Amino acid sequence: MTEIKKELLYTGKAKDVYKVDGEDDKVIIKFRDDITALDGGRKDTLSKKGAYNALISAKLFEVLEEHGVATQYIKLVEPDQMLSKSLDMIPLEVICRNIATGSLLRKYPFHKNQKLEPPVMQFDYKNDVYHDPMLNDSIITALEIATQEQLDKIREITHVINKVLSKFLIDKGLILVDFKIEFGFDKDGKLVLGDEISPDTTRLWDAETLDNFDKDIFRKGEEGVVDAYHKVVNLVLTDEEKDKWNVEKI
Ligand code: CDP
Repeated sequence: MTEIKKELLYTGKAKDVYKVDGEDDKVIIKFRDDITALDGGRKDTLSKKGAYNALISAKLFEVLEEHGVATQYIKLVEPDQMLSKSLDMIPLEVICRNIATGSLLRKYPFHKNQKLEPPVMQFDYKNDVYHDPMLNDSIITALEIATQEQLDKIREITHVINKVLSKFLIDKGLILVDFKIEFGFDKDGKLVLGDEISPDTTRLWDAETLDNFDKDIFRKGEEGVVDAYHKVVNLVLTDEEKDKWNVEKI
């Protein structure tokens, strides 16, 4: 099993990134139990949340890899720890929406739950000081966050990710309402999907009831967010995967 060298490279709002002994092109990403929302205005620590998010992210990255999408993910080493390729991250939050909800309803005259076909894609600047403002192509290129060619590629890959994950999740009874992803460059300069895809960063609705199985439960100040994430784990993992990671004992 890969040993974590106790050298913390980076700590974010819900994940820590550690160096891997003797392997500079790899990192261990540890998913913590911390949860934040409302631009840091609501915070909590919820037991098991980190492991559930790591298990769900790992599964969705595996599904994407099977469909030819390059990801940072190598393997899970513990239920809450992911061995990953080290990436030079692009400070963009790429948001893709299939249904109008959340900030889209607060900011624009969309109808509640309006279907978005084609999906709406948006780029936010990952920058706490500026509170993650929305960008457009000319601001992104002027700030040298990415080139136009890289942005075009990011859009293309994000459309593929949306198609693959929407299909995978609807087969499990979940609607992929929207999601946020991040990209980076690996040691060879290749554009790769990084970060996580979990109920912290997506909206997942029960296909029958339209109930939330995502961070909106926490944003609304309601109870049951970890139970909802647990349900997503049970829906997306196979029985073998659940046994392997002893999901019921986490
Ligand atoms: O969550 P809120 O309504 O403020 O933002 P949104 O723009 O409607 O979020 C769209 C999607 O991106 C949701 O699935 C969010 O969970 C996700 N997101 C995220 O993971 N991190 C952010 N900083 C912003 C959005």
